[in-house]
This record gives sequence, C-alpha cells and structure tokens, in this order.
Amino acid sequence: MNNSYQNDQLVLKNGQDINGSVKWQSPSNIALVKYWGKRAIQIPNNPSISFTLNEAHTITSIEYSPLKPHQDWITFEFEGKKEDSFLNRIERFLKSLHPIFPFLQQLHLNIKSSNSFPHSSGIASSASSMSALALCLCSIEDNLFSTLQEKEAFFMKASHIARLGSGSASRSIYGKLAAWGISKYIDHSSDLHAVGHNDVHSTFKHFHDDVAIISGDKKSVSSTAGHALMDTNIYASKRYEQAKMNMKRILDSMASNDMEQFIEIVEEEAMTLHALMMCSNPSYMLMKPNTLTCIERIRAFRKESNLPIMFTLDAGPNVHILYPDNIKEEAAQFIQEQVMELTENNRIIYDQVGDGPKMIK
Ligand code: PMV
Repeated sequence: MNNSYQNDQLVLKNGQDINGSVKWQSPSNIALVKYWGKRAIQIPNNPSISFTLNEAHTITSIEYSPLKPHQDWITFEFEGKKEDSFLNRIERFLKSLHPIFPFLQQLHLNIKSSNSFPHSSGIASSASSMSALALCLCSIEDNLFSTLQEKEAFFMKASHIARLGSGSASRSIYGKLAAWGISKYIDHSSDLHAVGHNDVHSTFKHFHDDVAIISGDKKSVSSTAGHALMDTNIYASKRYEQAKMNMKRILDSMASNDMEQFIEIVEEEAMTLHALMMCSNPSYMLMKPNTLTCIERIRAFRKESNLPIMFTLDAGPNVHILYPDNIKEEAAQFIQEQVMELTENNRIIYDQVGDGPKMIK
C-alpha cells in the first residue's frame, strides 16, 4: 500500500497533449463519533465515523492547460467571483502537494467552485470543498497518466489527498457511512485515508439530518485552533480512549439496530466535543443559548413521544437533528412547531444520508 504517494514519475513530457477539464460534486458529512485532536500531518488521535450527506455539497471544476511563462498558475472563482482568501488557502495546499502531483508545476489551473448551501449558513464547507478538489486532482492525474484506473485505488488516493486538506474531508469520498482512523473494529481502517462502512442495518442508510441554523456567524475559534488546544487539554487521553470505545459501541448499535444505544452515543459524542472546548486552556464555547434550548426540546420531545429523534453538533452552534426515515412526518411537525423559532431567519437545511461524490461529465 502506498503511504506517501510521492511520485516523481508524474511529470509531463514535451509535446504531450494536456488540455482538459474535470468536474466533481462532493458532499459534506456529519460525524457521529467525532475527530477532535490530531498530530503530525493530519493524523487523527482517534478514529471517527460519519454519515455522508446528500444535499450539502460543493461542485468544483478545473480546466487545465500548459503553463505559459509569466502566467499565474491558478485562477480561482468561488460562486462566480474571485475570492482571495480562498485562493491563498488553495494555492498553499496545492503547493504542498507538488511531491505527490509534480505535474501541477507544469499546468495552469482554472478552478471554479460553488456550494449548494449558503456560504454564511454556518455549515462547514471544508469537507465538501476539499474532497471535491481532491477528486478533481486525482481525475487530472488519471487523464494525463492513466495511473488511477482502478476505482478503489482512485478513491483511496482521493481520500488521502482530501485528508491533507481537511481531516474530516477524507470521509466525504465514500457514500452512506465512512470511517477514518485506525480502529480494530473496522476492516482496512487507516489514519491516512477513510474507508466506506456499509455493514449497518438499512435504517442507518436512510437517516435524515436537518440542520437548525442557530447562527451563521463565523466561528470565534477555528477547527485548526481547536484541534491544537487538545494537545494541552488534561482530559485528552481519556477522550481518545472514549472515542475508541464509542466506535465499537456505535458500530454494534448500527449493526443490530439498537436505536437506544445509538442515540446515547451520538449525543454523548456531541456533548463531549463541546465539553472539550469548554475545558480547553484558554476555554471557549461555540454553543449559543438557542443551541441549548433546541437540545432540551429534542430530548423532551423524544421522551414524551418515544420517537428516535436525536441531536448532534459540529464545531459550531447549529443543531443537527437526526432521525430515521420512518418518522419523517412527526419530525417535520416537531421541527416546524418547536425548532423553527430558535433559528436565525427560519433557516433549516434539510438533508439526509447520500451516496457520495459524483463525477460530472
Ligand atoms: O476536518 P477539520 O479539521 O475541520 O475538523 C473537523 C472536526 C469536527 O467536524 C468537529 C468533527 C468531525 O469528525 O468531523
């Protein structure tokens, strides 16, 4: 297995026909067991598993042509406009990939990207955008060198590259459920790339994730800074042990359709993520008052209705409301009556488990 993917053979020859274009649509994902804390180059300190989403996605296209002398090597447009802050991040990322894709130094790239969800919606876009970019780069490699003809090898490399851009993006490469990080409970699991995990009861392949947008404001502490604070968090080692055990427990619950256990773990993971932020040094908090009210309402509704509706949280104030497809009417009514008023401008993003990225011809 190739661990580093460094390959100095991937260089274009004089006279090679190299004009072309690639386009991918890649989804966001929501972690059930959370990745929080990393080392070295995007190596997770614990394994994680997520639902791949369907509606929240990024579409990225890249037109490539021979780089002319004095030409900018990248042009980048986000939703039809030049965005310098994104351009800088992409430029730094692509430069760091030169040992893996040396041919990038010989190309001019015209990159265009857009999201299916509003930019200020508080939905993290790094998973969908970095996975879409990684898929495009692997497609360019394959178009130019025919080195990734095998589907499995193609997606493994795309997941590896996506991970280098944003850890959680590695999981967006696979549909339904994906796991990243070594776990003895997942076959072929790796710290370097994610793997698809479909060994679950069919209920979990049709789950809903409706995101109540409590605030679309930019986060006060970025995920990068949050991961770094785990290095000095006194609870870190216990947390990593808990996550490893929660992998086993959640996999068991999904294989046997033990909804009670599934709910317990999903909510514990969300609460732990935010508790870790609150006991970091310096401490910080990303939940808002309405995040807590929403959580309380979900728990109260679950108790009184006996329906399997639950919450999880990403690194932000928005509440992901998870439930199986067979209670969608009851969930819709609950959200309308009790959650909508807690959101910013009545914003709910209705999503569900999806099939993963699509190449657009
Ligand atoms: O992929 P990053 O570096 O933005 O980290 C994301 C971490 C969480 O979204 C909070 C959890 C996860 O596993 O997705």
